[in-house]
Amino acid sequence: MSLVDCRGVPVSTRNVRCLQQYEQAVELAVGYYLDPLAILQEILEDDAQFAAAHCLRAALMLTATDKSVLPMLRESVEAIESLGRRAHERERAHAAAARAWLQGDFAGSIRSYGDILHDYPHDLVALQTAHIGDFLLGESTMLRDRIAQVLPQWDESIPGYSYVLGMYAFGLEETGAYSRAEDIGRRALELNGRDPWAVHAVAHVMEMQGRLREGIDFLGAHENAWARNNAFAFHNWWHLALFYLDIGDTGQVLALYDAKVRTASSQAPLEMIDASALLWRLHIRGVDVGERWRALADAWQPAAEDAFYAFNDVHAIMAFAGAHRLGLARKTIAAMERQAAGTHTNALMTREVGLPVAQAVISFALGHYAECIESLLPIRTIAHRFGGSHAQRDLIHLTLVEAALRAGKIKLARALVAERTQLKAASPFNWQLSARVSDAIGEADRAARARESAETRRRAHFAGLGAWGVGPGS
Ligand SMILES: [Fe+2]
Repeated sequence: MSLVDCRGVPVSTRNVRCLQQYEQAVELAVGYYLDPLAILQEILEDDAQFAAAHCLRAALMLTATDKSVLPMLRESVEAIESLGRRAHERERAHAAAARAWLQGDFAGSIRSYGDILHDYPHDLVALQTAHIGDFLLGESTMLRDRIAQVLPQWDESIPGYSYVLGMYAFGLEETGAYSRAEDIGRRALELNGRDPWAVHAVAHVMEMQGRLREGIDFLGAHENAWARNNAFAFHNWWHLALFYLDIGDTGQVLALYDAKVRTASSQAPLEMIDASALLWRLHIRGVDVGERWRALADAWQPAAEDAFYAFNDVHAIMAFAGAHRLGLARKTIAAMERQAAGTHTNALMTREVGLPVAQAVISFALGHYAECIESLLPIRTIAHRFGGSHAQRDLIHLTLVEAALRAGKIKLARALVAERTQLKAASPFNWQLSARVSDAIGEADRAARARESAETRRRAHFAGLGAWGVGPGS
């Protein structure tokens, strides 16, 4: 006999109390609130055969992109498989999708999670797993369309609707539909102000449009909703730091790094990625980040042994390069090369994008800027294939521009910077880059105008901006 969850999705259990706990765990998981795993542990101690709890546990392990949790993922997959037909067909489909991930078929796994939605469009766990999977695999249009496929089956009467809107908002943002993304994201927040993914989608819109001051104010206004007891808060703090970085307040960026983005020596890849990316953005601007690289490289060290997911590997190499541990960086490259020789999803991601970006990071760190450019130019337009968001992958463009300036490839730098100023004219930093290009070409008047543009925009963003109040230890 099966029961159904609050969305009418079948769950193979007769244990009503466990089902209630499971609902609570799902609610926490879809909002990234802590701690669904603790609740799942309680459920499974009570009823080790509760397949849906294993489905959620598997989804959480899978989306962590952390090789060290694969044994837990395998344990949950095998637990469901051992139930045979006592598990509902939907739960068996979850196990099959997660099994594909274990076998390295990341793309097939995410397609299978998506297929579950054709029969069970209200399966919020499958929906979120497929959505995050699309993000991890750089499937921008599916970030949008996977959610669109089920959207007509949802409305406000179904618990969790706001999360579906939040996911759709992010998919719209990643496909450039900024106005609609913001509308949908704000609608999600009207329904549920505690949805950090919807907050994130709106913050992304502001990032892409250079609405720096609005972004700072928006995140500040919602901080109590998204920042407390939330496993995703570090990433929204990272977005706040990007806004400050663009207006040139690197002191505030470092304060946010210390107090919010990298608060502990966590070895969760998703957290370490943001830490690496923020320090690398500062590094290529010539900002001294002190001992931070060393601590971060320590945390990344196990990644050097065994590559697993190219997007993570590249960020590990940034930390190793920043900490002057080039031996570890090269060891990671060797691990990536072993991955690239395979036929699984990550082999392709590593071959096409991961290795060229990794090589470029090392070249940059060594001051071999021409080699950095050679690595990045051929792949910059296909870099989405190794996952992440536009905002995250902008690091590749920023590294390329800086390498071009330092290599004296001024016409290339001029072309690349023009891309940036045309796309995001509100960014003071883009105009600073433009001024550097004009200086290098010897166009003093143009450089002066670009500096004036940067300063005008910086002042506009700063106008009335109070102290954020984030300092070390706060
Ligand atoms: Fe983001």
